[in-house]
Amino acid sequence: MKDIYGRTIDYMRISVTDCCNLRCRYCMPEDIQSVEHADILSYEELLSICESAADLGICKFKITGGEPLVRKGCVGFIERLKQLPGVRQVTLTSNGLLLKPYLERLKEAGIDGINVSLDTLDEKKYKAVTGKTGVQTVLSAVRKSACMGLNTKINCVIMKGINDGEIFDLLDIGRKDAVDIRFIEIMPIGFGKQFTGMDSDEIMSLLREKYPGIKKEEQVRGNGPARYLKIPGFCGAVGFIDAVHCKFCGKCNRIRLTSEGFLKPCLYYSRGIPLREKLRSGISREELSQLICQTVLDKPEGHRFSERDPNGKADSRKMSQIGG
Ligand code: GTP
Ligand code: 5AD
Ligand code: SF4
Repeated sequence: MKDIYGRTIDYMRISVTDCCNLRCRYCMPEDIQSVEHADILSYEELLSICESAADLGICKFKITGGEPLVRKGCVGFIERLKQLPGVRQVTLTSNGLLLKPYLERLKEAGIDGINVSLDTLDEKKYKAVTGKTGVQTVLSAVRKSACMGLNTKINCVIMKGINDGEIFDLLDIGRKDAVDIRFIEIMPIGFGKQFTGMDSDEIMSLLREKYPGIKKEEQVRGNGPARYLKIPGFCGAVGFIDAVHCKFCGKCNRIRLTSEGFLKPCLYYSRGIPLREKLRSGISREELSQLICQTVLDKPEGHRFSERDPNGKADSRKMSQIGG
């Protein structure tokens, strides 16, 4: 369906949990209080929402967290989601630590893409950024995923003074393996405010200097805000997500569902429509579609990283609670 600005909204990001097995410093505090399990939407409830969304033409679903694979039954949920009528694409964004043993099942389920977060190849820095070691575990999941022919991308958030010296090393993963490497501008949301990011133009000029043959990738890749380039001789593409400069709001295609069941028209909204109690008191498929429709019509033209949503409510939520 179209929103009031004429954008086609056909993609929903679903956070299946606010929990994570990492504590990336720009995302989650060490001592974050997780939501009670009973307050999280059940897989049945999520599937009902997806069914009603699919009735409206929302046919692409991104499964996120926290870390989606820490929630028991996540792969079974993906299998069922993929089989719903009207669902064309299901993709997953994961930190990659638990991914490798699930890859066969995800492939069988027909997963359409896997994005893995990896900000550094240096185990010490990885531990400093995420709180745990795991570079090799993540890399081996990424390589296996690409070898299995799955559409695989790496998300790197570049932070000055931390991993800005690793841009070329990270990029190199995509030289021999068909893995796209995407550089994301750090957003001033929650703890993201404490870091100085590197904007895409700055990274781009470094790449142009080293790889003068770099050129725009014409082929469409993924459904997200990333724009892509190709470097001659590299299997994977380079992507940029200008999350701060937000040049992509004009092409926004998405709504978001938090793990507690708030349906949100934009990343920066703090709350959204609470669906959980409505689902638990027997809302019909059509009524659910109407609320989804309302959310689409409420989409703002663009976003700002203010601490207040359009209703004036202060937002102190962290990225892991928003769903990335
Ligand atoms: P695909 O390209 O289809 O794989 O999707 P994607 O890039 O949207 O997915 P992913 O979950 O990997 O998100 C990558 C980055 O984009 C994360 O840092 C997200 O927070 C950011 N992102 C996703 N959607 C939005 C959005 O609507 N607005 C902003 N500003 N950032 C977003
Ligand atoms: N700014 C940009 N990206 C972020 N992510 C988490 N927090 C931020 C932030 N403040 C990224 C993660 C992951 C993706 C889902 O969101 O690194 O790759
Ligand atoms: Fe977990 Fe992703 Fe947040 Fe890191 S950025 S703590 S992996 S949800």
